[in-house]
Amino acid sequence: MVNKRILSGMRPTGRLHLGHLVGALNNWVGLQGEYECFFMVADWHALMSEYENSKVIQESIFDNVADWLACGIDTEKSVVFIQSQVPEHLELSMVFSALTPLGWLERCPTYKEQMRELKDRHIATYAFLGYPVLQAADISLYKAGVVPVGEDQLPHLELTREIVRKFNNMYAQVFPEAAPLLTKVPRLLGLDGRKMSKSYNNFIALSDEPEIIAKKVQSMFTDPKRIRKNDPGHPDKCNVHHYFSVFIPEMKDKVDHWCRHAEVGCTDCKKILGEHLMGFLKPIQDRRKIYTEDKKKIEDILECGRQKARDIAQATMKEVRHAIGMPQCPIK
Ligand code: TRP
Ligand code: SF4
Repeated sequence: MVNKRILSGMRPTGRLHLGHLVGALNNWVGLQGEYECFFMVADWHALMSEYENSKVIQESIFDNVADWLACGIDTEKSVVFIQSQVPEHLELSMVFSALTPLGWLERCPTYKEQMRELKDRHIATYAFLGYPVLQAADISLYKAGVVPVGEDQLPHLELTREIVRKFNNMYAQVFPEAAPLLTKVPRLLGLDGRKMSKSYNNFIALSDEPEIIAKKVQSMFTDPKRIRKNDPGHPDKCNVHHYFSVFIPEMKDKVDHWCRHAEVGCTDCKKILGEHLMGFLKPIQDRRKIYTEDKKKIEDILECGRQKARDIAQATMKEVRHAIGMPQCPIK
């Protein structure tokens, strides 16, 4: 039988932006019909990079979950829960850390890259090195067979499979080897053409007000060679055009023509994009209000998710303790 259970997670480290929507959320929403989905707020993972500014985690949890629901995560179909409310994540992480050689973690390309990139934060910590071990526990606790992730997360999936293989060989066949589910998603750059990132503050948040969206779109970098309105532009070199192709594909060719023939100036071109983005985000923001105006709704959803997740997590830990030969909890 094919394993049709999915687990994926997002770290609550700030507001969600258009990159999260096209990179992950839209994909999650579409998988709900076909798979049994578990969507997790990875707050312990967030702590590993945000421990010096940990307040952002709690604030982001409700904010992010409101966006998930507004974008179409349906709790009739999917389980939505907070990682830290299911303590078995840390238990299984402990077990996995016992059998994970340091070298596997030190070699991990995401670790090396983060150590280079997050220079402003002190992340040369014990927990941060073990980031993929906790992720392996997240996935394995639910015996998920499939994990939808972006390309950047592939090394973590590979580590998960290695850890699970080692566990299964050493003790007992408890876990499936989870396969990544890579869906082709457009890579959306930030407003300034750099990688979209919280630390560059170069994104449009899903919850941005219309005026903010207009302002941010006007600040976008365009074709650097198009200086005067009469200069023909190169839409293929313009991030604004790329946004058109992602969010308003039906206008892509028209904008291309306008730009190459200098029929429309960049200010007007961006104005059109801004208006479309506002229209596109409006229904999401309206639905989001249902949850931000009544926090209890999200609390109930998260509590229901916690119970469903915990039942499975406890059952898995029972098997794990049995396989290793550790006392059960409670002992009988
Ligand atoms: N590391 C993931 C990210 O930054 C978040 C995450 C935590 C995750 N646990 C997970 C993703 C388990 C998939 C499965 O995007
Ligand atoms: Fe970019 Fe539009 Fe200006 Fe062309 S007209 S350079 S697509 S912003």
